[in-house]
Amino acid sequence: KTGMFTYDPGFTSTASCESEITYIDGDEGVLLYRGYPIAQIAEGGDFLETCYLLLYGELPTPTQKRDFDYRITRHTMVHEQMARFFQGFRRDAHPMAVMVASVGALSAFYHDSTDISDPRQRMVASMRLIAKMPTLAAMAYKYTIGQPFVYPKNDLDYASNFLRMCFAVPTEEFKVRPTLSRALDKIFILHADHEQNASTSTVRLAGSSGANPFACIAAGVACLWGPAHGGANEAALKMLTEIGSVDNIPKFIARAKDKNDPFRLMGFGHRVYKNYDPRAKIMQETCHEVLNELGVKDDPLLAVAIELERIALSDEYFIEKKLYPNIDFYSGITLKAMGFPVSMFTVLFAVARTSGWIAQWKEMIEDPGQKIGRPRQLYTGAPLRDYVPVDKR
Ligand code: SDX
Repeated sequence: KTGMFTYDPGFTSTASCESEITYIDGDEGVLLYRGYPIAQIAEGGDFLETCYLLLYGELPTPTQKRDFDYRITRHTMVHEQMARFFQGFRRDAHPMAVMVASVGALSAFYHDSTDISDPRQRMVASMRLIAKMPTLAAMAYKYTIGQPFVYPKNDLDYASNFLRMCFAVPTEEFKVRPTLSRALDKIFILHADHEQNASTSTVRLAGSSGANPFACIAAGVACLWGPAHGGANEAALKMLTEIGSVDNIPKFIARAKDKNDPFRLMGFGHRVYKNYDPRAKIMQETCHEVLNELGVKDDPLLAVAIELERIALSDEYFIEKKLYPNIDFYSGITLKAMGFPVSMFTVLFAVARTSGWIAQWKEMIEDPGQKIGRPRQLYTGAPLRDYVPVDKR
C-alpha cells in the first residue's frame, strides 16, 4: 500500500497491439514479412517490392510492381527550399540530427498529404516518405562533407540512386557497381520492419494522436538513434575499432560480463531473439560479398568480429543469457567497406525502416477501432500530503 493509493501487484502493462505485418519467433530465430521468410525475400526480391508487400500485404504482380516503382521514382526529389533548410545546420552536425529535423520539416512542405482522414493523402504521404528518405539521407551526408547535393536520377534503381546521390561528384561520371547496389538493396530489405520495436512503437504512439505521417516518422527517426536500438550499428563498429585486434577480445568479453561495468557488447543480444537473429546470418554473407567485390581481403575489423563472435558463442555467460549477434553486428563493417562514414550507419537504417514504420502507421490509422495510445503506469511516488509554505519548511 502507498497511503491512499492501493496498487494491484498483479497489474501489468497491456501495451501490446495486433498486426498482420511482421511475425518474429525469438526462440526459433524466425522473421516473416506478411508470412514470407526474410531469407527468401532477401534472396529473391528487392526493397521496393518489400515496401509494397509491407504496405499492401501481398507481393505485387508485374504490373503492380512497375506502377509502384514508377510512382516512388517520381517522388524522389525534395522541394528546392529543403536545400536552403539544410544550410542552417553546422557542417559537423550528426547526420541523424539533420534527419530528425528534415523529415519533420517535410510536414511544412507537403501540406497536400497531411490530412490522415483522406486515404489518397495517406497513400501519397507514404510514397513521398519512402521515395524522399534516400534523397534527404544523401543530402545530410553531402552537407556534412561539404560536397554539392546530387539530384536523384529516375533511370536508376532505388539502391543505385542512393549510392550515386551519396558518392557522385560533379567532376566525374559515377559508375554504378551492381554488386554493391544489390548488397545495399538487400541490407534495406533486412532492416525494413521488425514488429513492435522501440521506434515502430514510437511511430504508432505518435500516429495514434492524429499527428501527420511526416511528424510520426520523424519521431521514429529520433527513437532509432539510440545506441541500444538503431544506433547499435554505429556503436558496434566503434567497439570493434576500440578492440582493434583479436588479442584484446578477452578483455572486452570480461567487461561485458562484469555487472559493475556498463559496457555491453554492441551488436549482441536482443529484446526478442534468444536465438540467432535470422537477419545477422544474411548480413554476414552480404558482408563477405561486399568485401570480396571490393577486394578487401584481410579487413582487421572483420577478423575481430569473426573471432569475437566465435568466442562469445562458446562462452557460458552468453550461452546462458542467450546472447547472439544481431543485425547490427555485421552491418557496420559492410557499410564502412562501401565508403559510408560511421555517422551514416543509423541513417541508412532509418531509410530502410521508413517502409516498416509507414506500413505499421497505415495499418493502425486504417483500424476502425483505433484510439489514442495511453500506456498505463504504476504509481510508486509520495502518498497524499499537504502543501507546506516555504517559510515553514
Ligand atoms: C535492434 O527490438 C527490435 O526489434 C530492435 C531491432 C529492430 O530491428 O528494430 O532488432 C534493432 O535494436 C537490435 C539490438 C541492437 N542493440 C545492440 O546491439 C546493443 C547491445 N545490446 C544490448 O544493449 C541488449 O542486448 C539489448 C538492449 C538489445 C537488449 O537488452 P535486454 O532486454 O536487457 O536483453 P536481455 O533481457 O536479453 O538481457 C539478458 C541479460 C541481462 O543481464 P542480467 O540482467 O540477466 O544479469 O544479458 C545481459 C543483460 O544485462 N546483456 C548483455 C548484452 N545484452 C544483454 N550483456 C553484455 N552484452 C550485451 N550486448
